[in-house]
Amino acid sequence: MKIAMVGSGYVGLVSGACFADFGHDVVCIDKDQSKIDRLHEGVMPIYEPGLDALVASNVKAGRLSFTTDLAEGIKGASAIFIAVGTPSRRGDGHADLSFVYAVASEVGESLSNEAVIVTKSTVPVGTGDEVERILRDSGTPHRVAVVSNPEFLREGAAISDFKRPDRIVIGAEDDFGREVMREVYRPLFLNESPILFTSRRSSELIKYAANAFLATKITFINEMADLCEKVGGNVQDVARGIGLDGRIGGKFLHAGPGYGGSCFPKDTLALLKTAEDYESPVRIVEAVVKVNDLRKRAMGRKVLEALGGTDAARGKRVAMLGLTFKPNTDDMRDSPAITIAQTLADAGVSVAAYDPEGMELAKPLMPEVEMVADPYAAIEDADAIAIVTEWDAFRALDLDRVKGLAKAPVLVDLRNIYQPEMMREAGFSYTSVGRH
Ligand code: UDX
Repeated sequence: MKIAMVGSGYVGLVSGACFADFGHDVVCIDKDQSKIDRLHEGVMPIYEPGLDALVASNVKAGRLSFTTDLAEGIKGASAIFIAVGTPSRRGDGHADLSFVYAVASEVGESLSNEAVIVTKSTVPVGTGDEVERILRDSGTPHRVAVVSNPEFLREGAAISDFKRPDRIVIGAEDDFGREVMREVYRPLFLNESPILFTSRRSSELIKYAANAFLATKITFINEMADLCEKVGGNVQDVARGIGLDGRIGGKFLHAGPGYGGSCFPKDTLALLKTAEDYESPVRIVEAVVKVNDLRKRAMGRKVLEALGGTDAARGKRVAMLGLTFKPNTDDMRDSPAITIAQTLADAGVSVAAYDPEGMELAKPLMPEVEMVADPYAAIEDADAIAIVTEWDAFRALDLDRVKGLAKAPVLVDLRNIYQPEMMREAGFSYTSVGRH
């Protein structure tokens, strides 16, 4: 089966490479000539473990190709995926659908055979109806169906998430759409991944509801962590204790500096806007967004406290370990590190930072921060060390070396990757999240 993937960013490229690996004939299309040129040379536009090898082997096998020519790329494709960005619209937080609609109209004008048009981009409820209208207005004589098929990939684990998904959600309004999608995902049925057919609108909502629920879970445990600090509890025990209840589940209960990334912040805001438009408030999600924003600043203050308070902190130096919103990605979007660095800079604290993958993208976002080549260079002469992202490389720091290099053995572990007792025994003044 031939599949066209319009948009060769994170979602499009990972999905395209995985579909090709399952044996489909895939063309990834993007307007960005330099991106396509680099892909031809085997250079990935994003950092995702395993992606370069997967792309290379499928290109070599002749199942995966790249082009900037949409009309040529979609020729003969039974399924045409729209996987372009839907950023937050500046000013109002609505999802910006201009890229999705532009692709829909170009596809309508270029179609040379019947096809199912699949929205993989995260789009608000009702977008599928609009895409269908655009295709109809394009006057194409070919049969089309518009289907919603949200993605649930996590950065850093995208390939395994794609190949072994918890579920596949397909929102289709007719048999043509359902049949083609069944064929697209046939290789995954063999892995017994559950496939859920719903209406298009339900499918569009599922994506937002899932992300909002996960953001809620994280925010809930973060507030429990604050409470633990006050009452003398341990948030990891609380998370384990509630997570073993099958109705709650143990995942996404790691307390930390607040969620960031390309999805949760943007999708929760867009859901609020949809709720507002339809006058059906989602007050829990409203609270989640507010609490998470406040948390990022509070984490900056936590580091200031470890330095002896705002007054004492002025002129001091902090080593920041980790900048990306989570490990195994170079993605800096809405990373708590940005707000934490800003809070420190506002208090007159200088910051030296190290991140295994994120420093390039971090530089323009945090110009006041000095980027250094390794964790120990950041720690040298630091008055406090803050672990902001739980990269594996920070889990086994040479603690004697750390103590020797730092001005003071003060460690603020915002990801709870060390044990408080062990750190105190090692001579550190150690604070973490929701633990004593
Ligand atoms: C998320 C969803 O998981 C995925 O299904 C969707 O398709 C896109 O958005 P992603 O943004 O890649 O994926 O990252 P994820 O691993 O979900 O983490 C999001 C944020 O939550 C990170 O900042 C992470 O540090 C934070 N987080 C996650 C916590 O603070 N605690 C947790 O227990 C889990």
